[in-house]
Amino acid sequence: MEKRMVFWNTTPRHTRRDALKGLAGLAVAVGVLPLAPLAAVAADSSRNILIAYFSHTGNTRTVAEMIHAAVGGDMFEIRAAEPYPSEHSATERRARKEWEDNARPALAIEFPVDMSAYDAIFIGYPNWFRTTPMIVRTFLEQFGFAGKTLVPFCTHGGNGLADSPRDIAQSCPQATLVEGFAVRGSRAAKAQDDVLAWLQEKNFLTR
Ligand SMILES: Cc1cc2nc3c(=O)[nH]c(=O)nc-3n(C[C@H](O)[C@H](O)[C@H](O)COP(=O)(O)O)c2cc1C
Repeated sequence: MEKRMVFWNTTPRHTRRDALKGLAGLAVAVGVLPLAPLAAVAADSSRNILIAYFSHTGNTRTVAEMIHAAVGGDMFEIRAAEPYPSEHSATERRARKEWEDNARPALAIEFPVDMSAYDAIFIGYPNWFRTTPMIVRTFLEQFGFAGKTLVPFCTHGGNGLADSPRDIAQSCPQATLVEGFAVRGSRAAKAQDDVLAWLQEKNFLTR
């Protein structure tokens, strides 16, 4: 089967040619899976936890479901009003443009849930261009999460959380940020032990 090699060049367009000369190796193969629709699910309203996530090819959703199985709470899928295309290069083009423009794409649903009900919000996303997808920034800024605890987790192709904690803090300056969790997208399905260890370390496993 053909494997697609993708370069996530996070250099602005005007210096890209120079940067490409010295690009050491951010070449990551990704599989492109169809985006399965998933509605917001109220799993356990007795807990004050929300697990909000964006996932284009399913890796981050896999981790979100592991977290949910461990800590309970409610789950919410962040979706763009204009869905990202299933074709990889079209998504890459659009995502790159949003990142370069520091855009805030519109959310599919403006007020999905009553955020005041939650104390801790897990926020999951794929690493796109060394940070969160811009649609995640729209979500964060729409709600602000002042006084809340934000718990980031991401899947990636080699860069880990990269700049995303810094950028989340910038979007939500009045939230408390917990040290996040990162796993390669290709390992997401095998990440359960690591997820549980991280949740334990951050005192989310009370049962
Ligand atoms: C547009 C785009 C940009 C990406 N940029 C990066 C990057 O800069 N660094 C990285 O490690 N992975 C990058 N990736 C890889 C994804 O983070 C990785 O495949 C992730 O597991 C996808 O998660 P998902 O299945 O939840 O969408 C990028 C993927 C896409 C589609």
